[in-house]
Amino acid sequence: MWGRSRLLGLPLPRGAPAIWRKGVSLCLFNGCSSDSRLRVVEALSGAAVGEREVQVQGWVRAIRAQKEITFLNINDGSSLQSLQIVAHPNLDIRGITFGSAVEIWGKLVQSPHKKQSTELLADKIRLVGACNPVALPFKIKERHSLEYIRQFPHLRCKTNIFSSLLRIRSEASAAVHSFFKDNEFVHIHTPIITSNDCEGAGELFKVEPASKTAEKQKNANFFDVPSFLTVSGQLHLEVMMGAFTQVYTFGPTFRAENSQTRRHLAEFYMVEAELAFTESLKDIMEVMENLFKTATSCILSKCPGDIELFHKYVAPGQKGRVEQMLKNSFHVLSYTEAIDILQRSMETFTFEPKWGCDLQTEHENYLVEHCGNIPVFVVNYPYDIKPFYARDNQDGPRHTVAAVDLLVPGIGELCGGSLREERLDLLQSRLKQHGLKDTYKWYEELRQFGSVPHGGFGLGFERYLQCILGVENIKDVIPFPRFSHSCLL
Ligand code: 4AD
Ligand code: MG
Repeated sequence: MWGRSRLLGLPLPRGAPAIWRKGVSLCLFNGCSSDSRLRVVEALSGAAVGEREVQVQGWVRAIRAQKEITFLNINDGSSLQSLQIVAHPNLDIRGITFGSAVEIWGKLVQSPHKKQSTELLADKIRLVGACNPVALPFKIKERHSLEYIRQFPHLRCKTNIFSSLLRIRSEASAAVHSFFKDNEFVHIHTPIITSNDCEGAGELFKVEPASKTAEKQKNANFFDVPSFLTVSGQLHLEVMMGAFTQVYTFGPTFRAENSQTRRHLAEFYMVEAELAFTESLKDIMEVMENLFKTATSCILSKCPGDIELFHKYVAPGQKGRVEQMLKNSFHVLSYTEAIDILQRSMETFTFEPKWGCDLQTEHENYLVEHCGNIPVFVVNYPYDIKPFYARDNQDGPRHTVAAVDLLVPGIGELCGGSLREERLDLLQSRLKQHGLKDTYKWYEELRQFGSVPHGGFGLGFERYLQCILGVENIKDVIPFPRFSHSCLL
């Protein structure tokens, strides 16, 4: 209840017990009079132990009947740990099973058991929503694999592992926003529907009205021009960089590429930043490394129990790997050095490493291992494999551009960024080569009205979570997985 009363900004009554000020507030709704309704995490904190009657709501995660007493474990998503409820035989607990939704009134006491500090001695238990535990695909006390629970996208948030994932995801998202706020970046909501193909890779989803009446067909495009779901907010951020110096966006991004891999999604979240007055890739790399390290330290300290669950059961050894990444400075390799390392290695690659070709995941993973499993920045890519906006290093005709990818252990590419071509003549000739001469007039104008050297990057949020948690399949770090292109929830 505290959530609701805090949200409404209701002042606490004069002389209210100190405990209410710690996050336990009056329950004013649902006819629960002046009883305090607590989140499980608050009940577990021990702050409310005492004579006062409290109310807890949640779902039964475990039920054990002993001779006299029945023990229930209740979870409401506020913490990995559940609250133990002690139910004496005088209470009516008929119909309450694993998975059912319940409301309990009682008093919080210090628990005699080692595993928890607080438990709730129940005075009253109400079954709110029944559950057939036989039909429920998750079984009490069983540890299900991520592959298994992925089959139940509508129910998997009820498992420990997945509720931990979603709490971590929520903290990680808050950590990203805090990082940029603390560093004085302005948050921009870039458009979801756009007419530009920022990456020029043609991996676009087209947006058009679903109903095709004759009238609508006459005007083939609803927006006058073909419109797509965004593949990157970069070009829009470049607009804003020209007035705010430091900007970022963090939103849904869509790519119609093969999403049946362990690191590709058709819909994912990208964090993108753009910085003005930046003449060196080093400035961009510094923000990438700081973002990675600050956000990671933040989630490690905010959800230690949830992270531990992954590091213990999903990816043993991951804790040490993450500590290594935080402790060490990230490596820097030029693309040319990277190709050289790959060509000199004894490894048999499916794709032969060749100067001028994109690095494949197998190459990226090899390079990270070669550098001691520390994240690696690969800089200065061939001119011909990077998009039109990447800044020409002018180290030879069409030789390299100031682009950077950040490669991380177990994943490969986590971030892609570059300095942007701010010189009008060079940008125009690049657009011409790409057959985009008349498409980006507005983008060219940015180079005519106070153009500054600038650059930025994009970080794949799901790949970031995979990297921290050691999760192999990207579908296990999103709230709703898709099994195939034809199955959406
Ligand atoms: O390297 P990308 O394509 O870079 C850009 O889009 C730039 N315009 C960003 C910028 O400079 N503002 O994508 C950035 C990151 C990748 O490194 C990867 O982590 C992630 O986005 N990404 C995907 N994540 C999941 N599924 C996909 N299909 C992804 N495609 C890219
Ligand atoms: Mg990339």
